[in-house]
Amino acid sequence: MICAIRGTVVSFRDNPFFTTTEDFLFYESDGLVVMENGKIQQVGPAEVLLKTLPADVEVVHYRDSLILPGFIDCHVHYPQTEIIGAFGEQLIDWLNKYTFVAEQKFGDKAHAELTANLFLKEALASGTTTASVFCTVEPASVDAFFEQSNKAGMRNIAGKVLMDRNAPPELLDTAQTGYDQTKALIKKWHGNSRSLYSVTPRFAPTSTAEQMEMTGAVWQEHPGTYLQSHISENKGEIEWVRDLFPGHKDYLDVYDQFGHVGPRAIFGHGVHLGESDFQRLHEAGAAISHCPTSNLFLGSGLFDLKKASDEKRPVRVGLATDLGAGTSFSMLSTMGEAYKVAQLRGSALTAWQAFYLATRGAATALYLDDKIGSIASGMEADMVVIDLKATDLLAHRLKYAADLHEILFVLMTLAPADAVRATYVGGALAAERSMETKRMSFTHL
Ligand code: GUN
Ligand code: ZN
Repeated sequence: MICAIRGTVVSFRDNPFFTTTEDFLFYESDGLVVMENGKIQQVGPAEVLLKTLPADVEVVHYRDSLILPGFIDCHVHYPQTEIIGAFGEQLIDWLNKYTFVAEQKFGDKAHAELTANLFLKEALASGTTTASVFCTVEPASVDAFFEQSNKAGMRNIAGKVLMDRNAPPELLDTAQTGYDQTKALIKKWHGNSRSLYSVTPRFAPTSTAEQMEMTGAVWQEHPGTYLQSHISENKGEIEWVRDLFPGHKDYLDVYDQFGHVGPRAIFGHGVHLGESDFQRLHEAGAAISHCPTSNLFLGSGLFDLKKASDEKRPVRVGLATDLGAGTSFSMLSTMGEAYKVAQLRGSALTAWQAFYLATRGAATALYLDDKIGSIASGMEADMVVIDLKATDLLAHRLKYAADLHEILFVLMTLAPADAVRATYVGGALAAERSMETKRMSFTHL
């Protein structure tokens, strides 16, 4: 069935980190996006395209709104939804005191299902249509997540956490069971509907060398799957890795020597990485997820986005919430915090760059830019509609915005949680805000 949405369309054709001319932008002030069979069939000026559509095609007109590609969250932990805003600790103590306690509940399928359902609704309500998601060590937590994700029709990436040391015994697998369970879950979920599997060693400190070895092996044995982990988030963590893996040059080298670094590997944080690390990640085609709200909340440090994105050897970077260490589901808020982190590093992230990192840039980091992350013909039809009059304050502030850049920048700065008016997934309405109650309703979840 063909359907269409009308409004101001903003998307990216190219990377705004490398050029100051605005050729990277796709913009239609009164645009029409025509969708069929889950994909964008065409996009262009409403005036032109409306004449070409059969008379019975439903067109939803979003006035005073922006239509953007659905946001992509490159690193997030759905089981940590219940510990967002946990007080007072930095990474390792936070893991022990809050995270490892919460994650023990996810052997209970009903608890996992309930949490995955809530998590995905919150993501859709925030305009996020794809995420790279950590489950827990329990395969049931992965089943629950993908079942809910497929129900919603979303293109999500997720995997079972691998940990065989330095966590409570209830959360440990072994090198062999981790390998076997991962293999079985890949068979079950990778390419099942829109779901994609990510081999998920939590981080080097919670895996023995034997598990790191078998993790590299299972990833290499399944081309097209992802690998996600954490790297260089916190100074104490980095020292711990040095003690645990004394034979290695540095943190990245641990992953590298076990075959974890290559295309479709996504490492969260990278706050304390240096030039040689960026060089290696660039060569390998591996990605970093930049998690500003998390890095501020846990006091981890300030990611050097400018250095990572250096045109001489750009590293693939996507933006990410890293909930529950991160503090918001909203990629708009996350962009606003990325701006502040960049400011503290002495550079100004433009709104073009921030929105790119949450859409097409993230899709490129994930090797999915031929499918998601932009509004163009042939792409999967995942989109978010932002209401520019969502609140009186937003409407007032935007009256004084001189141009599109200022509108986008104000959105990522004020980022009212209820600015998302509708979210489309696979060419269909997935979430919609009632203009009366301001609450979201969900089509499938
Ligand atoms: N490093 C290892 N595990 C985690 C986690 O769950 N959250 C964050 N922020 N860092 C980690
Ligand atoms: Zn994380």
